[in-house]
Amino acid sequence: MERTQVGIVGAGPAGLLLAHLLHRAGIDSLVLESRSRAEVEGTVRAGVLEQGTVDLLRETGVGSRLDREAFFHRGVYLRFAGRTHHIDMQALTGGKRVTLYAQQEVVKDLVDARARAGREIAFEASNVAIHDVASGRPSLSFTHAGRERRLACDFVAGCDGTHGVSRHSLPEGALTRHERTYPFAWFGFLVEAAPSADELIYARHDRGFALVSMRTRTLQRMYFQCDPSEEPDAWSEERIWAEMRARLETSDGWKPVEGRITQKVVVPMRSLVFEPMQLGNLFLAGDAAHVVPPTGAKGLNLAAADVRVLARAMQRFYADGDRGGLDAYSSKCLERVWKAQRFSYWLTTLLHRSESDTSFDRNRQLAELDYLVHSRAAMTSFAENYVGLPFDE
Ligand code: APR
Ligand code: PHB
Repeated sequence: MERTQVGIVGAGPAGLLLAHLLHRAGIDSLVLESRSRAEVEGTVRAGVLEQGTVDLLRETGVGSRLDREAFFHRGVYLRFAGRTHHIDMQALTGGKRVTLYAQQEVVKDLVDARARAGREIAFEASNVAIHDVASGRPSLSFTHAGRERRLACDFVAGCDGTHGVSRHSLPEGALTRHERTYPFAWFGFLVEAAPSADELIYARHDRGFALVSMRTRTLQRMYFQCDPSEEPDAWSEERIWAEMRARLETSDGWKPVEGRITQKVVVPMRSLVFEPMQLGNLFLAGDAAHVVPPTGAKGLNLAAADVRVLARAMQRFYADGDRGGLDAYSSKCLERVWKAQRFSYWLTTLLHRSESDTSFDRNRQLAELDYLVHSRAAMTSFAENYVGLPFDE
């Protein structure tokens, strides 16, 4: 039997950042990941970091590539009824910015930090199982590089995303599930082209939502609302561009910069929270505990906030045996999680079109958008949620 202080299941942003924070606090951990390093580092997900996430990465020594390569934006554009409105979030929030840095770049930086620390990530681990979850002595078993391994832990961190084993290791009925699914999805694609705009464009159109995001000077990320059953291959490049042009049209003739499309994916949309986020010495973090629709780009940021709370609680426990922070973990995280859920739901319903919408809903959406871009109070509320509510102090 091997031993570690914290067994971490999953090497996504949550698991990797937790391992990094624990290492800096002198706490030992081992990370188990079912996929290969190349797959983990190659998964395309959202790319917006809250100010608090950026600060955390910088403060803990993993922000230097981000500082060189990320785009820092003052705000975002909202486009509706043929017109574009800029929301200057930096001015509205006393200096907080919108950082564009893809999730897989954060993941690569954290995998590098782990390697530099000389600590293990067991990639391509299979048959991962958690034992004695509810007890004070949990353990993990897994197969790695053809070898059966067993790991005794003080704590297990379930950072294995929506479909991982951690949550399913809990006894039936231990968690309450709060869920809302949406009758639409996002069609996401990468484009080999220059950026279409200097900042992100969120567009509401009668044909449905569209989003112009970015990655680098030569690669862009865009999305449009589609049916959840849509097949990516049913969409040729010409059809995608015709749809994007229609949804993004403005009275002054603006058009997106087109280019070769290199990746197409349909992303389902749902809001999901499991409560509580802990049982015994098992703690869930990130997507294992909650999922947001991508509209507010909160997924990675919530994962970062969770593991910051968890790392601090563990540090307190190892420093003076005080379980107070650990016991309060779930309630502390859920306060912030529910606010991010509220924001993501609000932004989703503000910008998307639903089959069941009537002319009432259409006019209500347009009135709300018009109010938003003309009221400083409404814009400030939007901005402070978008750049990120405060992390736990
Ligand atoms: N054993 C080991 N690893 C597993 C298992 C398992 N049984 N099941 C899943 N995993 C791994 C996945 O392969 C993945 O790499 O756990 C990791 C979970 O990572 P994410 O899904 O990225 O979740 P999280 O770290 O919580 O990050 C949240 O990522 O999913 C996005 O939109 C989400 O941006 C948000 C962020
Ligand atoms: C992205 O760049 O992938 C992205 C940006 C903003 C969002 C969601 C996704 O709201």
